[in-house]
Amino acid sequence: METIGIDALALAVPNGYLELSDLAAARGVPAGKFVEGLGVRQMAIAAAHEDPVALAANAARRLLAQSGRDPSEIGLCIVGTETAVDHSKPIAAYLHGLLGLPSRCRVYETKHACFGGTAGLLTAVDWIAAGPSLGAAPRVALVVCTDVARYELGSAGEPTQGAGAVAMIVSARPRLFELELGASGSFSRDVHDFWRPLDRKEAVVDGHHSVACYLDALTGAFEAWRSVAGSEPLLRTCYHVPYGKMAKKAHRHRLGLDGITEAEAARSFEREVAPSLILPSLVGNIYTGSLYLALASLLEAEAARLEGARVGLFSYGSGCTAEFFSGRVANGAGAIVDRWAIARSLAERTRLTFEEYEAIRRADPQVDRAPLGTLSVPTGAIAYLGIEQERRVYSN
Ligand SMILES: CC(C)(COP(=O)(O)OP(=O)(O)OC[C@H]1O[C@@H](n2cnc3c(N)ncnc32)[C@H](O)[C@@H]1OP(=O)(O)O)[C@@H](O)C(=O)NCCC(=O)NCCS
Repeated sequence: METIGIDALALAVPNGYLELSDLAAARGVPAGKFVEGLGVRQMAIAAAHEDPVALAANAARRLLAQSGRDPSEIGLCIVGTETAVDHSKPIAAYLHGLLGLPSRCRVYETKHACFGGTAGLLTAVDWIAAGPSLGAAPRVALVVCTDVARYELGSAGEPTQGAGAVAMIVSARPRLFELELGASGSFSRDVHDFWRPLDRKEAVVDGHHSVACYLDALTGAFEAWRSVAGSEPLLRTCYHVPYGKMAKKAHRHRLGLDGITEAEAARSFEREVAPSLILPSLVGNIYTGSLYLALASLLEAEAARLEGARVGLFSYGSGCTAEFFSGRVANGAGAIVDRWAIARSLAERTRLTFEEYEAIRRADPQVDRAPLGTLSVPTGAIAYLGIEQERRVYSN
């Protein structure tokens, strides 16, 4: 059977970031609580012009350029997000215009908290598996996960914010990561662990309950996965990463299902999970894209030596739904990843002061009504410019 999976992947993050040690100092908390306790060093902070549409468009534009794909090849474009900019018009429609996707393309947005991107990816895989009609061009999908994660200033969730977009080409014979079709386990339950009422930009969260819900969902999804996935072990696992420590808790929990001791789980974590947490620790929580940022981190660190290796993926969306699924690093992925330099590009971002961060956040409520021309916008990247005649306007 033909393989299907992620053919190419690219990232866009805001230019500014906050050091968690600066946030800790300003909030009167020991830095160790955020850096070691939560496993986050830096979090990306989106300026007004770096909204979820702009982040998605910049990631997708980079993706098309890097992969050599022409926009005319894309037959399906799904954007997963939980921080949409409109109750009706999807971010995928903005991408259609900004990227010049063909009119024959199906475009829409998917939502289920941090699971929205996975919903898009798995739907794209099914769409490709359904096959092109006789004589038609091969099906190629663009899946973009994009979010700006916001919790109330001074709240327990504040150190677990972030912002960014991950764009992926999904196709047959993928050059990066092959998904194991059918090797997938779902878990869902109606819970109130994290949500965002329609009139709010910041999430409401019952933090410790959300950790418990995540771990329950992991148990259910993992057991469902292994009932269909055969006995070949996973050499690496990427978990949804709201913060690095959560992935550590998840791995310990998963191994605990088989009676593996904490000491053994800690050793296994260093080999099986830690490489996937390098980029998340520098960007923070990007909600729908977090699992795919972890996958990018793993690939950037180890793709060449992992070619052919089986990798587990766990996606969790509060509310809740979850999926444990698996795939393999494609042969030749190492050579593609050698050209990425994601970690190096993150080192070129601008470090914000705590005061600059707070000013950005305090201006947030006005941004979606800012008249065109009133926002300060650097040139170069695609950017949100403000509102004209009730419409959001973007530079291209
Ligand atoms: C995750 C969250 C609940 C933590 O909030 P909190 O109550 O302020 O933090 P805690 O007191 O639990 O401390 C966090 C960790 O830091 C550790 N810690 C505290 N002070 C520390 C210090 N000075 N040095 C090192 N570690 C420290 C704690 O022991 C704890 O580790 P543990 O989880 O392994 O026990 C909060 O950040 C949150 O609500 N985040 C958003 C929701 C979320 O991301 N949910 C995840 C599932 S989707």
